Amino acid sequence: MQPVVGVILGSKSDLPLMESCVKVLEDLGLTHEVKVCSAHRNPRGVMEWATSARSRGLKVVIAAAGGAAHLPGVVAAWTDLPVIGVPVPTQHLGGVDSLYSIVQMPAGVPVATVAIGEAGAKNAAWLAARIIGLNDSDVEQRHGEKRAALATA
Ligand code: RP5
Repeated sequence: MQPVVGVILGSKSDLPLMESCVKVLEDLGLTHEVKVCSAHRNPRGVMEWATSARSRGLKVVIAAAGGAAHLPGVVAAWTDLPVIGVPVPTQHLGGVDSLYSIVQMPAGVPVATVAIGEAGAKNAAWLAARIIGLNDSDVEQRHGEKRAALATA
């Protein structure tokens, strides 16, 4: 199945957090790919991944990073796809550094920024479903059913 959501992480150390994002994508039936590629350790790799994202069939990108978290903004600079940024918690500043780095994008190159940590990781997937559901009635229906189930949680 061709992936419609691209999940990119700045480090393998972001994987445990982003498993909760992937789980929601799976629950919502959204095909996805996961790529680990650092914006500062492998900028060329990020450029190649982001510039080919649309032609590879991706509809939405979820980008997670911690610290001076430039990955989501760099990806948004290289693609016109909607980019959702997930601020990863950090040891010294608790992820506020990640949040501020991701959320304060200058006008014209947006990154839709979610909460620090697990709620943000999960909401990135929920938001991707809402975006893709605008043009995919199956996804819209699955999203609606899962959301209704939350009412009794
Ligand atoms: C960022 O720096 C990553 O997104 C990660 O959250 C943080 C620390 O990376 P590692 O030193 O664990 O590889 O690039």
